[in-house]
This record gives sequence, C-alpha cells and structure tokens, in this order.
Amino acid sequence: MCPMPNAYLDVGIQSRMNRIISPKDNRVVMLAVDHPYFQGPTTGLKDMSTTIKTLLPYCDCLMTTRGAVRANIAPEDVGSKPIMLRVSGGNSVLFEELSDEKLTVTIKEAIRMDAAGVAVSVYVGAANQQQTIMNLTDMINQADEYGIPVLAVTAVGKNMARDLRYLALASRICQDAGARIIKTYYCDEFSKLVDSVAPTPVVVAGGKYSSPPDAMKMAYDSIQAGAVGVDFGRNIFQDENPIGMIKAINAIVHGNHTVKEALDIYNACLPGARKLE
Ligand code: 5RP
Repeated sequence: MCPMPNAYLDVGIQSRMNRIISPKDNRVVMLAVDHPYFQGPTTGLKDMSTTIKTLLPYCDCLMTTRGAVRANIAPEDVGSKPIMLRVSGGNSVLFEELSDEKLTVTIKEAIRMDAAGVAVSVYVGAANQQQTIMNLTDMINQADEYGIPVLAVTAVGKNMARDLRYLALASRICQDAGARIIKTYYCDEFSKLVDSVAPTPVVVAGGKYSSPPDAMKMAYDSIQAGAVGVDFGRNIFQDENPIGMIKAINAIVHGNHTVKEALDIYNACLPGARKLE
C-alpha cells in the first residue's frame, strides 16, 4: 500500500527531528557539552576542542552553546553532527538562585548556525518559574515559525526533589508549552513520566559524574522505561575512558545492550589489562 502523504505534517520540524532522533530506531545519543554556560571552566571540558573532536564520531547530536560551536568545533567537523543549541542562560554557579535565566540567542542566529534544534531550561517551582516558562514559550513561538524543534530542559534548583511527582509535573508543563522534546532526570517509576507526556519524546540527563556501571544502568533503565535516549555529559567526558563510555551508552541506546554487555564494550577500550565489573 502506498503511504498517504500527510498534508498536516510540519515538514521542517520533522526533517530536523529526524536529524536529532534517528527515524531508524527512534533513539538518540545526545552529548551534552553546554556546562560552561553557567559553570565556567568545567572538569573534562578545559580542552573542549579535543573533547568534542574525540567524542563527536560516537554521538548522534551535540548539545552545546553558540560560543562553544564557534570556538571548539573544528572547521572540518562543522555540520557533521546536528547541533542542539542552548539558547537560555544568564546565570552562574556563583549565584545561589540558578533559575534566573533569559533567552540568550535569537532564532535567526540559531538558523544561521544551522542548529537542528534549540534548548531552553525551565525551572518549575523555582523563584523564576514564570520567567523561564515564558522563555520557553517565547522561543517556541519564534522557532515554530521557522520549523525548528525546541527541546525543554526540566532544570532543577540545588535543593529540589528529583522525584516522579515533580519531574512529571515539570515535563507536562513543557509539553503543554509546545516543546518537541523533553529532557529531564531519571527517577523511580520513570515509565509513568514517559507515558504522561507521550508521544513527546523524552531524553534523560546524566547529572553529576557517578560511575560507569551506575551511568550505564541509568541509561538502560531509561530506555526500558520508554525514553528515546540520553543527553549525557559529565558521565561521559569526565570519565577516564570517555570513548569507552560513549560507545557503551550507544550500545545500550541503539543496540538494546544490557549493562553487562555495555561494560564489556567499555572494558575493551580501557588501556592495559584493567577491567571494571
Ligand atoms: C543542565 C543541562 C546540561 O546540558 C546537562 O544536564 C548536563 O548534562 P549532565 O548532567 O549529563 O552532565 O542541560 O541543565
């Protein structure tokens, strides 16, 4: 049977979504290297050009900032992977209240940089909740005009719970605002969160560096719960074996590998005879 052409499909959005999330398996390994936008020099990103050069071949999409794209992607690598461009910021780790963000990049600049999507953080329940939700809706209003998908990050303040009740609430608000992808944290009963925003795809943030088996388990549990992928940063680039780590995460996300199988991939990239169990 000939597939029906979908007169209602937003072709620009779909084209970019297909660049971000593989239509072959509906999965994505996004590499988050946007941390300096509020952390400044970040462990593992001091030589960001080398980190990006090394890991780019193994990710599907790079989440980063305008400045990092300009300064740290080698000219020959520009365009080799889709960019999820962070377009909110304005805070720093030196200030207790992290939620004080505004939009930092215009949609025209995102288009000029050939971003596949743009990312905005939302701090639900924090001091600047309304400002950050309006950042998201303002960017969606602009990005929709040009067919650019917006990824909403459910950012959490320093002392906020990362449980199902909170994260599902924040994710649902992002979906309701019109986000095309939701990035949130893993929590118990994660499948309930995924179901509550279906069919909007959910990717999982890694959080602070833990350990290869723990990060792999989080990736595995996220995929089993219905996430389309992960957007990991520190658990990859702060590991002593970042290539092994991203290959292992890739195998979990795209190959449905178990943690044990992924650890074998990780170990194969560890120098010497050492092995993690
Ligand atoms: C912060 C972000 C970061 O990109 C992302 O969460 C960091 O990745 P990781 O936690 O895996 O280091 O969006 O709000």
